[in-house]
Amino acid sequence: MTDLADLERRAAERAAARAGGQDRLSGHIVCDALVRIFRTEGVEVMALQGLDLVVDRGELLAVVGASGSGKSTMLNILSGLDEPTAGLARVAGYDLLGMTAKRRLEYRRRIVGFVWQQTARNLLPYLSARENVELPMRLAGARRRRRAEELLEMVGVAEKAGRRPAEMSGGEQQRCAVAVALANDPEVLFADEPTGELDEATADEVFGALRTVNAELGVTVVVVTHDHNVAGQVRRAVAIRDGKTASEVRRSARRAADGTEHHVSQEYAVLDRAGRLQLPAAFVDALSLRDRVRLNLEPDHVEIRPGTAGTDPEEPA
Ligand SMILES: Nc1ncnc2c1ncn2[C@@H]1O[C@H](COP(=O)(O)OP(=O)(O)O)[C@@H](O)[C@H]1O
Ligand SMILES: [Mg+2]
Repeated sequence: MTDLADLERRAAERAAARAGGQDRLSGHIVCDALVRIFRTEGVEVMALQGLDLVVDRGELLAVVGASGSGKSTMLNILSGLDEPTAGLARVAGYDLLGMTAKRRLEYRRRIVGFVWQQTARNLLPYLSARENVELPMRLAGARRRRRAEELLEMVGVAEKAGRRPAEMSGGEQQRCAVAVALANDPEVLFADEPTGELDEATADEVFGALRTVNAELGVTVVVVTHDHNVAGQVRRAVAIRDGKTASEVRRSARRAADGTEHHVSQEYAVLDRAGRLQLPAAFVDALSLRDRVRLNLEPDHVEIRPGTAGTDPEEPA
């Protein structure tokens, strides 16, 4: 006899197997083999080509990548603005593929906050900073006002609360935008190149605000940036190439024998479930690798050598 609980358990097992195991599904944000194809006038663009990404609750993740690599496409899907063509995208337990309109609205209102690159897109020009933060809140009255002031304080623009966007600098507007995005107390904050229109010093302030809200509110933050200065300040930065996560850099603080603390950073290639990885372009160029390479399994590593004619026994010189 199969009952409903049994069917549910089996469906959950199949979903976990598809995603490569239960642990891969347990992240706060999970993208698995995510595909997004755009069709315009008969031309297909595969913006995401099987992207994998797992982000834990409370993480601050930087995403870097060349223009056109699929960063905005990924964020638009994760924020519920766009739907993937195939694959799995799950945020805070919400499956973003095939959501009903009602659930999508609930997701966008309660779970995610968003900061855009264009400062004008984040704030209403005729409202003050405080009114902009209060507008999306579910709270009312004095609590609403207190919460707005707390958020503006947290991002460092409390003294500008009464000003309209036009009376604030670009960096202040973006920090205010971070406060607006947090007004509804979301679990996840997405920011698409929020410092793209700012100079370096101002960009650092905006990034500082994102770090503060991540640390103080525990909100999971994913920030797309092509500012390597910014990407160098986080514990984890993921690089996207041609619609896939290609590599990531993890930084950790280590204490040396003499007590001094120094930062160690390690770059990793991302290995997908099928065992595929992408070699860094610099490596490919340095050894002029092309078409095929030779792999050797050593006890503790794998060797990759050029598969050039002459050294390749399969191929006559
Ligand atoms: N709405 C769309 N219609 C057609 N193609 C699109 C659309 N949005 C993005 N693309 C294409 O998808 C690819 C990835 O774009 P995007 O995600 O904006 O990259 P990034 O944010 O990394 O610069 C690009 O080739 C882009 O031209
Ligand atoms: Mg973009």
